[in-house]
Amino acid sequence: MTSTATEPLAPEPPTAPEPPTAPRTTTAPDQPAPRPVVVLDGLGKTFGSGQSQNTVLEDVDLTLGQGEFVALLGASGCGTSTLLNLIAGLEAPSKGAMEIPSDGVAFMFQDANLFPWLTAQGNVELALELRGVPKAERKTKAEALLALVHLQHAGKKRPHELSGGMRQRVALARSLAQDKHVLLMDEPFAALDAITRDLLHEELTRIWRHTGRTIVFVTHNVREAVRLGQRVLLLSSRPGKVIREWRIDDAQKQPEQAALLADEMTAALRQEISRHV
Ligand SMILES: Nc1ncnc2c1ncn2[C@@H]1O[C@H](COP(=O)(O)OP(=O)(O)OP(=O)(O)O)[C@@H](O)[C@H]1O
Ligand SMILES: [Mg+2]
Repeated sequence: MTSTATEPLAPEPPTAPEPPTAPRTTTAPDQPAPRPVVVLDGLGKTFGSGQSQNTVLEDVDLTLGQGEFVALLGASGCGTSTLLNLIAGLEAPSKGAMEIPSDGVAFMFQDANLFPWLTAQGNVELALELRGVPKAERKTKAEALLALVHLQHAGKKRPHELSGGMRQRVALARSLAQDKHVLLMDEPFAALDAITRDLLHEELTRIWRHTGRTIVFVTHNVREAVRLGQRVLLLSSRPGKVIREWRIDDAQKQPEQAALLADEMTAALRQEISRHV
């Protein structure tokens, strides 16, 4: 679990914890709902069987609209990565139904996981090759994607010659090279320092607006969730289900309002953590 220096997430002494209920939505949206691209209906996931049975997710109902940016918040171990794996089709649900894009989704992890023997551009070109882009087009497309993440001058460098933030930018370019409508991001900036993270927030927001991707972004950092998400969903733990939802418009991303929202989310997250202390 990751937190920044400005955002301690240590649990407070428990107050009277509330059991998870149906999700509460804060701030009503004014806009029409976008076309659904991912629909999860009563989704559940249980690992193991008998005494070692572990129900990680239960009754997860969630609809992701085309072009939405949804941030997922939860305590460590609440099942956010499992949820992304289900949406990506890497795990099968134990219960419920789901609709996911037939052409799959792109995935970006906390670690860049670049191939060390390939250059930055080579890593992006490999994703294009796997997508079936003809060789003649790969170089130009990879250069354009690296330019999109402001790495046009680093294409020839190998991963060990790049900073952590630059490696994550290459990983982002590689995810975009897969050209899927849905991009799942599992704590992609958690290991970065606050300033680099801030820069990447700006870049990701710009890229999201430019490409119209549907993004699901897992984080433990409430400020990151408020900064990036149009919707922020809070997952309960043991089992994980969506217990709270905030809709955030651009006005609420202004510093004063964002700080208030972040405080509210931190309190909700702490309460959820304290239920399990
Ligand atoms: N393949 C698996 N087999 C058995 N148990 C698993 C498997 N994958 C995840 N789990 C269990 O599911 C629970 C949730 O794991 P998951 O990785 O989804 O948590 P998380 O919310 O992503 O945590 P973190 O925020 O620390 O990354 C954990 O108890 C974990 O041990
Ligand atoms: Mg995880």
